[in-house]
This record gives sequence, structure tokens and C-alpha cells, in this order.
Amino acid sequence: MDIYFAPLQGYTEDVYRRIHHKHCGAVAAYYSPFVRLEHGEVRAKDLRDLRPDHNQGVPLVPQVIASGGNEMRRVTGVVRAMGYRRIDLNMGCPFPLQTRHGRGAGLLPRPDAVGEIAEVMQEFADVAFSVKMRLGMEQTDEWRAVVDIVNRMPLSSVAIHPRVARQQYKGEMCMEAFDEMAGRLDTPWCTTATSPPWSRSARWSSTMAGGLPA
Ligand SMILES: Cc1cc2nc3c(=O)[nH]c(=O)nc-3n(C[C@H](O)[C@H](O)[C@H](O)COP(=O)(O)O)c2cc1C
Repeated sequence: MDIYFAPLQGYTEDVYRRIHHKHCGAVAAYYSPFVRLEHGEVRAKDLRDLRPDHNQGVPLVPQVIASGGNEMRRVTGVVRAMGYRRIDLNMGCPFPLQTRHGRGAGLLPRPDAVGEIAEVMQEFADVAFSVKMRLGMEQTDEWRAVVDIVNRMPLSSVAIHPRVARQQYKGEMCMEAFDEMAGRLDTPWCTTATSPPWSRSARWSSTMAGGLPA
């Protein structure tokens, strides 16, 4: 089973990742905090965090956040031009500062915007994309409206946070919806660490028993 290093805005920046990689390691990939447009430009701070010379030897996957096709094209273009060929799309961020602009989990109730993003991904044929998403903004069945579009995306994996955005990071996880969603994905999936699916998810248990790493 591979372990991935989840990003935390304001914490897991380049210095943190470098030191972790040097002294702890055992992580298959480090995901950067999301890179976003601000006043139409990618923030200089985010670009500094991704600079290859600040991440030497670290298996880094930059994460982007976008409200639709145009933002996705801009941010992906900038990250790709820095030399990255793996990019993670954040469709799970619950922070209102992002969701009210339609980014992060704010994409989930907007299948048209998710469709635009799927089209843009096809424009970057040499990039392996992945997605991190939740069950919904408000309801645990909102994933249903976008799962077929997610299945059309050229993805290497999907990370599922088994809550809705309204809950942010606390409260009951819906493992039934998690199991159902994982079963509808054509892509390998994984989940966030403190969601203990091995104890409560039938699908996780059967997958692991079958010897397939998520
Ligand atoms: C302050 C804070 C900042 C976060 N920033 C990001 C981020 O930039 N990108 C992302 O994908 N997840 C972000 N997350 C979510 C975490 O990566 C992780 O998915 C979340 O804590 C749930 O994982 P857990 O089950 O291990 O707690 C953030 C969470 C917190 C609390």
C-alpha cells in the first residue's frame, strides 16, 4: 500500500516537505497545497513553493484548484511549464473562500464546470492528472452528478474524503456513500488518513483482502 503526503495550506510547504523527505521518507508522493489564481495571476508565493530547486529529490505532485475550464487551463499551463508532469486537481476544499468562487468542493454541484475541466485535461496529453474530492457540498449523494465526468478524465487516481464540505474536517463520515462512490470509479482510489475505512468500509476491506493497493 502506498502512502501519500496530504497537503495543508500554510504548513506543508517546500521546507517542511524537504525535511520530512530527508528524515522520515516512506512516502510515495508529496502533494503541494493548492496553487490558485489571485487577481488573474498564479500567486508568486505558490510558484516559489513549486520551484524545482526548492524541491530537489522530493517526489512532488503540485495540486491546483480552479473554478472551471479557463482557470484550469491557466494554472495547469503555468505548473506544466515549470516541468511537472503530474498534477492533482482539488475538488474537495471546503473553505468558503474557495467554494464561493466555485473552486474545490464548489465544483461538485456544477457538472458543467467539471465537464469543462475534463476537456482541458485532454489538452495536456503529457500530464498525468489525479483528483481529490468529497461526497458533496451539502449532501452525501452529490458525487453522483459528476462521477461519470470524473470517469472521463484522464486520471491516475482519485482520493476520496468521505464527508461533505459543510462538515469541513469534523463529524460523521458517510462510509456507505464512500463505498458506493468508490465502486463507481473506473480509476484506482484512495482515501484520507484519519478516515479509518479499514474498520468501516466493506469495499476497502474487500479491496485490501484481494491484495490490491488503492
Ligand atoms: C488547515 C488545512 C489546510 C488544508 N489544505 C489543503 C490543501 O491545500 N489541499 C488539499 O488537498 N487538502 C488540504 N487540506 C486537507 C488535508 O490534506 C486532509 O485531506 C484532511 O486533513 C483530511 O485528512 P485526514 O483524514 O488525514 O485528517 C487541508 C486541511 C487543513 C485542516
